[in-house]
Amino acid sequence: MTILRVALNQTETHPSYIALANYSDRLEEQTDGRLRLDIFPNETLGAQAEVLQLLSDNIIDLGIISGSQMENLSEDFLVLNMPGVFDSVEHQMPVVHDPEIVGELYTSLEDSNDITVMGGFTQGSRHVYVKNEISSLADLDGVKIRVQESELNLAMIRALGGSPTPMAFGEVYTALQSGVLDGAENNEVSYYTQNHYEVAPFFTNTNHLVGLDYMVASTEMLEGLDPADRQLLEDEWINTYQDHTTLWGAATDEAIEATKAGGATYLELDQQEVKDALAPLADEFLTTPVQRELYDKIRAAAPEQEG
Ligand code: GCU
Repeated sequence: MTILRVALNQTETHPSYIALANYSDRLEEQTDGRLRLDIFPNETLGAQAEVLQLLSDNIIDLGIISGSQMENLSEDFLVLNMPGVFDSVEHQMPVVHDPEIVGELYTSLEDSNDITVMGGFTQGSRHVYVKNEISSLADLDGVKIRVQESELNLAMIRALGGSPTPMAFGEVYTALQSGVLDGAENNEVSYYTQNHYEVAPFFTNTNHLVGLDYMVASTEMLEGLDPADRQLLEDEWINTYQDHTTLWGAATDEAIEATKAGGATYLELDQQEVKDALAPLADEFLTTPVQRELYDKIRAAAPEQEG
């Protein structure tokens, strides 16, 4: 029997947990119980930076890892974390599963880090939320906002006028509650499942990034699997990310409704002002021909805008 240990930093109510649990059920069914996942939610195996190391060392098998962490291993991953690189989840999901576009990127860390990327779950659009009401980006001046630990994330919040503070995901609630932070940035789903709305009730529509969580595997584990099991794992991953994408839309609507009922206020900021503030980051961060080429391929795959 093969049991693959998966690290996740979300709660059991989050779509990523549910999609992984369904993935495990399908693997189990199709192998008469020989292959399944053991999912460790809530950062129980550590924050994502630690999980990456555990994957590299083949101590655990699989992990859901945010793009920002991957950016710290390879500047090429940074391209998929750029504001504006993806227009929407509908643009993002086919691209991040298209071997023509991401095939090389996903195997690029096998020699150096012993990890292989299998694909990704969307994080939807990320937005800034704060403790005190704001009406424009100018009001973010001096506001301490938690970011994921990467240079691009720091630059994004600086560009929006805030003061970025890098921190692991699991520490954010307490830091908001104690006033170490004035705000954070995430999607509606995590805003809800992490209860951040209780301590930072003003959610703005900055739309600064369509985020991505990668499904990262230990290369040694993949290579050690029975070839038929590896094929099944890869085939069923396709159904898993598609299941997740379907769950995502409903979870976002539910999160908005529940956080509003819990006292959150959704504020509208000027979208053009946000776009203009973030535009210079492309020249600053996309500095190599490989990055540029990847960026251009992703943009070329964007669905045509209506109207
Ligand atoms: C989202 C994402 C996580 C990430 C988190 C964060 O919830 O799905 O993978 O760790 O944001 O802001 O750290």
